[in-house]
Amino acid sequence: MTIKPPATRLFSTAQEASVAVATEIANLIKSSSEPVVLGLATGGTPLKLYAELIRLHRVEGLSFKNVITFNLDEYLGIPPQHPLSYWTFMHQHLFDHIDVPASQIHIPNGSLAESDQEQGCAAFEDAITEVGGIDLQVLGIGLNGHIGFNEPGSPPDTRTRVIELSESTAQRAASDFGGMENVPKQAITMGVATILDAKSIAMLAFGESKTAIIRRALNESITAEVPATYLQQHDDTTYYLDEAAATGVPF
Ligand code: GLP
Repeated sequence: MTIKPPATRLFSTAQEASVAVATEIANLIKSSSEPVVLGLATGGTPLKLYAELIRLHRVEGLSFKNVITFNLDEYLGIPPQHPLSYWTFMHQHLFDHIDVPASQIHIPNGSLAESDQEQGCAAFEDAITEVGGIDLQVLGIGLNGHIGFNEPGSPPDTRTRVIELSESTAQRAASDFGGMENVPKQAITMGVATILDAKSIAMLAFGESKTAIIRRALNESITAEVPATYLQQHDDTTYYLDEAAATGVPF
């Protein structure tokens, strides 16, 4: 396999970068007669992208009927209807406003009993394989370099699985959950290998809080300590950065 380092695209604002990613997605949908398989992320970063996809649907008639989605991750131990679940996030910020059929939406099930989790993770992987793999995976990056919930230390051959949230990830979620004690201890996440199997990857990072980790993700040699460095092994990854996140990244 030829290794092509990640491409970087610099935009003045997060809005412009988000419109560029939305345009990529719209072109993929419009040019394909086959169902388009999208991998989707949560967090603050993709909100402008989702707003633009909703606008394209409402104003320009872009249809998502031929789209299948897989979300990267979900907190474990909370029901889908929990206000802070990623299921709720995705429905509030995207799915309730477009015409993707509910049967084509896949989000890891965070309410599985422990005895069903292994089988549930395997079924999630099988569902991706059955539809021919992910065409475009949207990613954000954690401040510690995590992708999905693949926390530092995650090996490159990992598949969808249960993972313990790192201290720094839990701390970041603490204000939303009303204190550290309420933050789920675990999550289900696509693995590193699941993400690297995507045919193309769009990594979005905006704002100065992401500057340091973006530099490490792009410039450090591949290390489990910064899982985003694994993207250097992928031959079709593009980083969409605003000026703040890109400070110090050579173009
Ligand atoms: C969470 C999600 C990740 C996301 C990251 C960054 O931990 N599991 O998928 O990329 O946060 O979030 P934000 O975009 O809010 O910075």
